[in-house]
Amino acid sequence: EKLKLWGGRFTGTTDPLMQMYNESLSYDKRMYAQDILGSQAYARATCKADILTEAERDTIIEGLEKVKQEWASNTFVVKPDVDEDIHTANERRLGEIIGTHIAGKLHTGRSRNDQVATDMRLWLRDELGEIEKYMVEFLRATVSRAGEQIDALMPGYTHVQRAQPIRWSHWLMSHAFEFLADLERLREVKKRVNRSPLGCGALAGNPFNLDREFLAKELGFDGVIPNSLLGVADRDFVTETLQWAALMMNHVSRWSEDLIIYSTAEFGFVTLADAYSTGSSLMPQKKNSDSLELLRGKSGRVFGQMAGFLYTVKGLPSSYNKDLQEDKEPLFDCVITVKNSLQIATGVVSTLNIHPEKMKAALTMDMLATDLADYLVRKGVPFRETHHISGSCVREAEVRGLRGIDQLGLKALQSIDKRFEADVLEVFDFERSVELRQSTGGTCKASVLKQIEEATSLLQ
Ligand code: ARG
Repeated sequence: EKLKLWGGRFTGTTDPLMQMYNESLSYDKRMYAQDILGSQAYARATCKADILTEAERDTIIEGLEKVKQEWASNTFVVKPDVDEDIHTANERRLGEIIGTHIAGKLHTGRSRNDQVATDMRLWLRDELGEIEKYMVEFLRATVSRAGEQIDALMPGYTHVQRAQPIRWSHWLMSHAFEFLADLERLREVKKRVNRSPLGCGALAGNPFNLDREFLAKELGFDGVIPNSLLGVADRDFVTETLQWAALMMNHVSRWSEDLIIYSTAEFGFVTLADAYSTGSSLMPQKKNSDSLELLRGKSGRVFGQMAGFLYTVKGLPSSYNKDLQEDKEPLFDCVITVKNSLQIATGVVSTLNIHPEKMKAALTMDMLATDLADYLVRKGVPFRETHHISGSCVREAEVRGLRGIDQLGLKALQSIDKRFEADVLEVFDFERSVELRQSTGGTCKASVLKQIEEATSLLQ
């Protein structure tokens, strides 16, 4: 037990299951590079505080470099009896390489409590940078499709019932703006991740006059956590990331759901590329949109990670408690899920085939009933009245067994309301309906192009 970093006051040995239950190396070794980076900066700061000589500092920094290379080349030999986590493993190995006399000075004033919080923030900072990059790629792909396919019209739905004609690009852009808000939120979260807890010690602060601001700068942090008790306790940066991911994945899920519906034979608006579909082991004809179903399904997993971690931290006493070790697995898994999901979504949207003729065929004249009501509004009739008149036209067409309200003809329309004139027949045109929606955010061509322009400038 004396071999353990904390073994000095112990006489008994650890229960074998407890040993396994307690270890985190199997998953926190993912942060080996960050742990070493943090330790190298810490060596510089402790030298500045006159705890290490310059020679000792350099020996430590070089020794840590060797440890890092061992991890990178997969030659680091884990000692399961003593290596509890990445922090103890790296320190143990450093001692073997440069001797424990010097290596033993590195941890002066430091605790694994400020160390682990630092590693996590360094790791997450880089990962969020990657996620941001993948989000931008996904958005660029979406926006460029919207530009290319601006002319395709399709039914817009409410309650999954045909409602009014819209541009396919309008649908694409509705999601683009949702994801742009996610991008904005992500940049907000990043700011709070990038703060340094290093130098907080176990909880009370550092007694060696360590320059925390210097440390923060060395590690590229935007500042320090201003209270040591909070520095070791704060996992809001994890919670916020999980919450961010949950909301973003909710958007991915709803986007996927639409495309799953649009890709059914019944709709036939889109066909997924083979690269993002899979087949059935039994039914030879099947081509399933598994990519989209997994995107939808994996959102649930992220929601669970968010909720689970909130349960973990709720009610924890101040400062560090071992419960906090449970931050890693959900966060690591969530980050992997989000990175993969964004890349899959980008692949799906860039390779998707659309079928404008099928979209157009799904448009029906009843979807212009609002436009018929609006026609009379333009003649000065109050909308509440025109709504009823147009409703009567829909009913009349149904009673007569016609394909649509356009089949009624002028005579029949005029017998319902004499204010209908010959130009009413112009109403029965989907393109016209779409082009009338000219106010900001509407589905007319100019407005969608403006949306594309706005989104593009936000993505610069
Ligand atoms: N592996 C631990 C974690 O992930 C490191 C911190 C341990 N600190 C302690 N006081 N036992 O949280």
